[in-house]
Amino acid sequence: MAKADHIKKLVASFGRNQEFRAATLRIIDDAANQGKRPFAESLRKILDANVRHDYQAVPQPGLTTLASQIDPAADLLDEVAVTRGLNDIVLNPDMRLLIEGIIEERRRSEELRRHRLPISTRLLFSGPSGCGKTLCAEVFARELSMPLYSARIDVIISSFLGETASNLRRLFEFATRKPCILFLDEFDALARTRTDTAEHNELRRVVNSLLLMIERFKGPGLVIAATNLPQFLDEALWRRFDDILSFDPPTEREIELLLTRQFANFPAHFDVSTTISKLVGMSYADIERICFDAIKKAVLKKRKSVSETEFAAALRQETRRKSLTSNRSL
Ligand SMILES: Nc1ncnc2c1ncn2[C@@H]1O[C@H](COP(=O)(O)OP(=O)(O)O)[C@@H](O)[C@H]1O
Ligand SMILES: [Mg+2]
Repeated sequence: MAKADHIKKLVASFGRNQEFRAATLRIIDDAANQGKRPFAESLRKILDANVRHDYQAVPQPGLTTLASQIDPAADLLDEVAVTRGLNDIVLNPDMRLLIEGIIEERRRSEELRRHRLPISTRLLFSGPSGCGKTLCAEVFARELSMPLYSARIDVIISSFLGETASNLRRLFEFATRKPCILFLDEFDALARTRTDTAEHNELRRVVNSLLLMIERFKGPGLVIAATNLPQFLDEALWRRFDDILSFDPPTEREIELLLTRQFANFPAHFDVSTTISKLVGMSYADIERICFDAIKKAVLKKRKSVSETEFAAALRQETRRKSLTSNRSL
């Protein structure tokens, strides 16, 4: 049962979409936490189908495509399809707490604002590739029911240096107009400290205006910057973010969770815990690929489960692939 308080809030928020959505999301969360997933999911669908976000423009037939075409930042962004939520990401306990805390804060931002408390709007994700930075941006979008836009860093870094700052300005203006998750992947490419180039002064100006834009960004959505190369980030940037989340390769505990998840629908016919030690040091994406390869092998042999031999072959394949790609980057 939903808690009495939540039902009271729901009724009290009648007529105010954003508060009504927040109150319903609390009930959905409670149901999901109590293991009532089918109910939680159907309520979520009913909510999304019937209760508009305040920021969703009333659709005007024929105008929506036009509006997106003429948005002054449309050339700088790609909208990313959002399907995966908190249940689809494996996280260590500290990260889970941190991420759930940010989501809760955003969902209940009205309450916090009433107490004049600041709300996290700027996040920096750092960590090696394949460890969930992009996935986590999707999770935020899904959990907060906001669209996810990925910035086209290559377009933003214009060949005319003078345009880079104005491109960034257009991007941040977009995220100020439209509640969304603005994802700045490969952030290091934008925010490098390049002291050794002839264009030093101009680049310095770009980094400085980026610093200001991040500092001034107050929502309504979230700006998430991600980097695999934190060592290249301008030092002054770190302080501009409300939270820094470090996405590390999985430890044994997370590897076990990931394997359990991967073999949930197509079982492994051996004790997968015996393979965990061989997977330490790999990224989530690597391990996921090994599982997919092993399952593929079993499916092609028309079997109903993965054997230890298939898993070992998939692991060898991944190790070979890795050694080829690392040789190339030497
Ligand atoms: N923490 C994780 N939990 C579950 N799956 C993950 C995780 N990290 C990565 N993956 C899987 O690997 C894929 C690639 O990861 P991604 O989020 O793109 O990594 P990054 O952006 O850090 O390079 C994801 O789409 C997902 O399928
Ligand atoms: Mg990524």
